[in-house]
Amino acid sequence: AADLAGRHFLKELDFTPEEFRSLIGLAARLKEAKRAGTERDDQRLTGRNIALIFEKSSTRTRCSFEVAAADQGAHTTYLDPSGSHLGKKESVKDTARVLGRMYDGIQYRGSGQEIVEELAAHAGVPVYNGLTDQWHPTQMLADALTMTEHAPRGRGLGELSYAYLGDARSNMGNSYLVTGALLGMDVRIVAPRSLWPEESVTARARALAESTGARITLTEEVEEGVRGADFLTTDVWVSMGEPPQVWDERIALLRPYAVTMDVLRATGNPAVRFLHCLPAFHDLGTAVAREIHERHGLTSLEVTDEVFESAHSVVFDEAENRMHTIKAVLVATLG
Ligand code: CP
Ligand code: NVA
Repeated sequence: AADLAGRHFLKELDFTPEEFRSLIGLAARLKEAKRAGTERDDQRLTGRNIALIFEKSSTRTRCSFEVAAADQGAHTTYLDPSGSHLGKKESVKDTARVLGRMYDGIQYRGSGQEIVEELAAHAGVPVYNGLTDQWHPTQMLADALTMTEHAPRGRGLGELSYAYLGDARSNMGNSYLVTGALLGMDVRIVAPRSLWPEESVTARARALAESTGARITLTEEVEEGVRGADFLTTDVWVSMGEPPQVWDERIALLRPYAVTMDVLRATGNPAVRFLHCLPAFHDLGTAVAREIHERHGLTSLEVTDEVFESAHSVVFDEAENRMHTIKAVLVATLG
């Protein structure tokens, strides 16, 4: 396995394909150990302390870091958006140096990639990106592990294809594009052109693909984009931190890109699987959903409830895998 001791985990582009794959392999082994009940005998983070800074909300990422750390014998401190001086009374640089004196690792979730990069530059301990506006790299490990687990018989990641539909000018769009490129996959971004990833991201992905053999497609055409895909995936149409006014415009632009049963059928693959990082807008279970229902008459947005609840959907395996893969990052960098 690759030696990742002391490394940060800030974005996919910082890793070689071998390093990224080795984290997925480690996660699979840690998952097996937990299932077998042998993890307690082989804890690799005893006595470690990890700070979890969240400037944006989270269910999966926070709980994954906390459970992963506890399983391996480490302690965590959760700092919520109002629970520290970061960025208000104290600079990122000073916060990094203070926390670096007390903690063995620091997780950061917030808006700016530059913030997590600055924390990393000054903390003196590994820093983990739990989502920024640019990248969601821990999510990509979970998705890759989930795809490995649900791959048609014996096929490795490099022989798999996925299509991401929806808002691709986002952390998830960027991360899916470069991760597929890194892992040598057949990756399709299916979105209106105005919501494709920025040219600089696409250029990085294309450059990577040259060396990994990945296939990269950006298209506005749903049928063409999903044909033959092993996996379909999407994300919310409005991300955390975006103003509520963008909802109407996004809905108008993205309605043709909703993942419906017809889109699943258009893959021509009866065994196609559906992924979603979650949270998802597939029913009227939230206040925002009910408000949008009032205004637009829609009961779902990026994915229909029918697809979400179908046998094609592996979204809860994917959510569980957040924990196993984050555990792998902690063990590889601090173990
Ligand atoms: N997918 C994901 O990052 O979920 P949370 O926002 O709940 O952490
Ligand atoms: N694009 C979403 C991902 C949530 C996990 C957001 O940033 O809100």
